[in-house]
Amino acid sequence: MAIHTDEFELVQEAAAYIKHRMPFIPKAGIILGTGLGNWTNSIDIITEINTAEVPNMISPKVASHKGKLSFAIINNVPVAILAGRVHYYEGYEMNEVVRPVRVLHSIGCTHLVTTNAAGGLHPDFDGGDIVIIRDHINLMHANPLRGPNEERWGPRFPDMMHAYDREWISYTKVQAEKINLKIYTGVYAGLSGPNLETPAEYEYLHRIGADLVGMSAVPEVIAAHHIGMKILAMSVVSNVCYPPERIRETTVEDVIRVVESSASKAGILIEQAIQYCK
Ligand code: HPA
Repeated sequence: MAIHTDEFELVQEAAAYIKHRMPFIPKAGIILGTGLGNWTNSIDIITEINTAEVPNMISPKVASHKGKLSFAIINNVPVAILAGRVHYYEGYEMNEVVRPVRVLHSIGCTHLVTTNAAGGLHPDFDGGDIVIIRDHINLMHANPLRGPNEERWGPRFPDMMHAYDREWISYTKVQAEKINLKIYTGVYAGLSGPNLETPAEYEYLHRIGADLVGMSAVPEVIAAHHIGMKILAMSVVSNVCYPPERIRETTVEDVIRVVESSASKAGILIEQAIQYCK
């Protein structure tokens, strides 16, 4: 069993390094998933840090993830944007997968926007659609809170009733409507990957109530909720997985292409949603 008694110190050390270099205390952390990293090219970045130079921060090895921590002011809200995350399927322990979330909290973020590419399990969803996650089903068979509880972060048995901030979701829906941006809400099933699912698995996930399936989000949300952050999570549908006759063979290049084609839409939604943090 992995016991991470010094995880708190590892997080503090990473945070201390960043705090010395950051231009302001960020209010919100934004994690950009597969295909969404280029959104940072369209905003004014004040300071950029390579995550590889931050002690204890693991940098993404997947080509689709950049490994940069950028500071910007978006609609008057100071934010820290992490382009690129590490995944459980890469072989990291869960405490390593969620370390960036805890670091974001330690440098001041009280709010988290987390984004990802996901398979669509709702018959209405098409590739490129944006879906706000309203709840999740953890099928990763792993949990970032396993092991001794770090009381300085949160309780041993965190309640998950309000993990996804309902007010923030409502706010975001209203903002999206104002600018005529079509968005959905849905339930995200988190699986460990790295393989995509079989048709039978997609069918099963649909039947148990999932609208989306992906390999991230869940550990981050559990850790962020444990530590008391307000959370807004969103997926871009990268491949259609339901009903079975709509499933197509999918490569990571397909996923990136579809998400990139919706990246500016997702960016606009983040810019709208972030105003909730004021
Ligand atoms: N399954 C799991 N994760 C994913 C998928 C999928 O179909 N698409 C993008 N991420």
